[in-house]
Amino acid sequence: MTLEEKPRVLVTRRMPSAVLSPLYRACEVDFHDHSQALTHTALCDRLVEKDGLICMFNDRIDEAALSVASGLKVIAAVAVGVDNIDVPAAKARGIIVTNTPDILTRATAELTWGLLLAVTRRVGEGDRVLRDGGWTGWTFDFLLGTELHGKQLGIIGAGRIGQAVAAVAPAFGMRVVCAAWPRQTQRNKKPFECPVLSLDELLLTSDIVSLHVPLTAETHHLINRRTLVRMKRSAFLINTSRGGVVDDVALAWALDQRLIAGAGLDVFEDEPNVNRELAKKENVCLTPHLGSATRETRTAMGELAVRNVLEVLAGRSPVTPVSLNV
Ligand code: DGY
Repeated sequence: MTLEEKPRVLVTRRMPSAVLSPLYRACEVDFHDHSQALTHTALCDRLVEKDGLICMFNDRIDEAALSVASGLKVIAAVAVGVDNIDVPAAKARGIIVTNTPDILTRATAELTWGLLLAVTRRVGEGDRVLRDGGWTGWTFDFLLGTELHGKQLGIIGAGRIGQAVAAVAPAFGMRVVCAAWPRQTQRNKKPFECPVLSLDELLLTSDIVSLHVPLTAETHHLINRRTLVRMKRSAFLINTSRGGVVDDVALAWALDQRLIAGAGLDVFEDEPNVNRELAKKENVCLTPHLGSATRETRTAMGELAVRNVLEVLAGRSPVTPVSLNV
């Protein structure tokens, strides 16, 4: 790059122009202005000679992508989860990886409660019955749900989002427990006052189990046949973290066997595909990865990613770098 050349930045998905305008002022922007993702091959092709990358959680930034981008200095994920990025490989090449923590906490916690309420109070079933013209009138025992008051919410992954979900529970008269998840609890700066149980104890005693761990080798299929059988038959599973944390086939099996009462799922193992067995079940409420999908949050995520890129390309520290132990 000569002195007058602007740094080149690839943006892999459509984002509002107001969010990108500071980037346009300082950089030469290669903007994939589409809602569909680039293929991996196209992504690699467009990464050649880039200095910066703004990518989404479902762009795979692996060794192959990194190896074509010899001049890359910064990868700014518009996401908190960075399981799609080979962070150690990026760091080994001196590339700074950033994400967008905190600003999506509230939106994701709200959606978690949305799913939790929807599945315990059978909102999806009620909506379908009405639309299908199947409602014949009020009856005493129609679509009875589960009340939250006095129940136990088990948080697996008491990081920022897990804590924000937990904070709402007292308003519903619920008690909260969390699973001992050392890496996450250590990172928390705020004290999070709740009993810490082993994973098994949490599964055995909770009425709602809500997942908020990042997807890592350690958490992949954390919810599987062995862990599902530990849950109460009356319990509900909520997942707004990453699809890979739950073994979808095992979950469909557990629901078939009536080992748990239902599930609220925003994320799936093979997105955008949804396990067909899960999708057939009345006691499962599904949303298409909407955790951070509010106008306010997505705008803030985009702005933060842009800021991170600009800081690094100006030779300064990014606002929200990803540490190696994510
Ligand atoms: C994230 O931030 O990790 C979400 O899954 C994408 O919004």
